[in-house]
Amino acid sequence: MPTIKIKPKLNINATLKVPGDKSITHRSVIFAGLAQGHCTVYDYLDGDDCRRTIEAFRQCGIEIKKDKTQLYIEGKGLNGLKAPEIPINAGNSGTTIRLLSGVFAGQNFETEMFGDASLSKRPMKRVMEPLGLMGVKIQAANSQYPPLKITGNPDLKPITYNLPIASAQVKSAVLLAGLQAHGKTTVIEPGLSRDHTERLLEYFGAKIKYKNNIVTVEGKAELKAKDIYVPGDFSSAAFFIAAGLLAKKSKIKIENVGLNEGRTGFLKALETMGAKIKIENFKIVCNEPVGDIVAEVSSLKGITLDTALVPQLIDEIPLLVLIASQAQGKTVIKGAGELRVKESDRIKAISSELKKMGAVITELEDGFIVDGPVKLHGAIVESYDDHRIAMTTAIAGLCADGETEINNSECVDISFPNFWELIEKI
Ligand code: S3P
Repeated sequence: MPTIKIKPKLNINATLKVPGDKSITHRSVIFAGLAQGHCTVYDYLDGDDCRRTIEAFRQCGIEIKKDKTQLYIEGKGLNGLKAPEIPINAGNSGTTIRLLSGVFAGQNFETEMFGDASLSKRPMKRVMEPLGLMGVKIQAANSQYPPLKITGNPDLKPITYNLPIASAQVKSAVLLAGLQAHGKTTVIEPGLSRDHTERLLEYFGAKIKYKNNIVTVEGKAELKAKDIYVPGDFSSAAFFIAAGLLAKKSKIKIENVGLNEGRTGFLKALETMGAKIKIENFKIVCNEPVGDIVAEVSSLKGITLDTALVPQLIDEIPLLVLIASQAQGKTVIKGAGELRVKESDRIKAISSELKKMGAVITELEDGFIVDGPVKLHGAIVESYDDHRIAMTTAIAGLCADGETEINNSECVDISFPNFWELIEKI
């Protein structure tokens, strides 16, 4: 298992691009597979999670060719999938297993899906419940963990569903089932989460309405494939935004990044902390907002995070904890209990690893209290096989004294395969 060594770095002046958006790549494959016609997906993310979704669709008879930057998908319509011959391996990918549960909900066959050790511990009741209400039978280990066995029902009932917690994965699973049901399915969320599914469905001509936290889709309408240009992943860009803010005398520009409002709570939180960040070249591409982000070293102050922002920065919270450790005063993050059921228990993982580097963090059941600023020092840290923990400790290493060693660093392949090369480059 490779260990990476990170040395401190000041004065980072760089313009870079990050790989394609993970959430949009998953959805491009899924919706192109369920649409009629050909779709070329430009600048897709070739990371392990997205490869799982691609493989799953291939197993269902969808032709997907790929080269380094493009996917070529021949969609067969909502009823065009065939039963996979062997169980689908979702690997580490929560998005694959949860969104595909919605796809297989309306099919005329039985599907089994399983995952790695981390995915096998992640809760699936959140998708089993609404899909059960629509008429799908799903069996799970201990009635809530993968492997899942889904007995599809081509006669799905539409529902109106109030999500107990804001989750784009669960919302998308219900919408995917709703797309195959007779009539209108509505999902109401307690907070705003990413709306890539809604935007892509609209782009493909589905009958869909969405505003704030409420979305309604009409079932059985045909999706028409169109080419998709995938922007850079905001969550990947976030690591370099943090580097730009924290490493002395630095300025970093990340070009062509997705700026979906359900993803950019991190920018709002950083603005309250006093960060110098600018958006340039804002535009709409394939129904998604996109722009360049410029971040430069800033003097930051601690904040009490608005809990309404949590769903919009859920993947960036470990990084926010690192940034808070460099800000003046106390930062309080609450309402983020979801972090305990991500690829690792991210509250525990990031607290323990940043503390090894000198950060002052109190772990709460649903968040953190961070006291700053402290000068971090290099240490030997663990990734917990979680891509976002590995990358957050790498950025911490750039602004620490001495050398940081990150064990099991290869997990970055999940969402950011060339992360270590880019770190080397800057
Ligand atoms: C994702 C939704 C989020 C996020 C994950 C990707 C998606 O999960 O953490 O990395 O693509 O829909 P939840 O829906 O569980 O919040």
